[in-house]
Amino acid sequence: MAALRIGVLTSSDTRAAGDAEDTSGRALIELSEAHGWEVVRYHLVPDDRDRIASALVQMADSDSCDVIFTTGGTGLGPRDVLPEVTLEVSDREVPGIGQVVRGESLKITSRAMLSRGTAGQRGHTLIINLPGSEKAVRESFGFVEGVVEHAVEMMAGGGHG
Ligand code: MTE
Repeated sequence: MAALRIGVLTSSDTRAAGDAEDTSGRALIELSEAHGWEVVRYHLVPDDRDRIASALVQMADSDSCDVIFTTGGTGLGPRDVLPEVTLEVSDREVPGIGQVVRGESLKITSRAMLSRGTAGQRGHTLIINLPGSEKAVRESFGFVEGVVEHAVEMMAGGGHG
């Protein structure tokens, strides 16, 4: 299989303003590259619906990303909108991914139940929401990395062989 094309989006007001380092976005780039996947685009945007939506659409439609990993914006804060925007730009939800991330994360911290992260399919692109801390990203990535290549094959019309 050709190297997956990966997009990374961080949603964070403080990091986009330069007041904090984007350690979770950097972790997603590092973890993706460790698989031999190619990170073709990285966006660091504030928790703003329109900015997030246009970045996701660009990575799916113009950059032809196979998978977009997002970090941040999944919690209960007034500006946490990542799951809503993900579903808004997706053709359909892929609910199992969020369920597994939460379920496995609950074995580590009860606060995992506060993440509303989900996943969605837009055309041939899978958008996966992960929480906003580097720790949460590293843990959560481990729960989904094994299914990503099969998901991409399925989106391309491949069978289960
Ligand atoms: N999931 C894992 N695996 N590890 C974590 O440390 N932190 C939780 C949760 N999910 C956490 C986790 C916390 S404290 C919050 S508030 C939610 O993710 C939402 O995070 P977000 O708003 O940064 O997306």
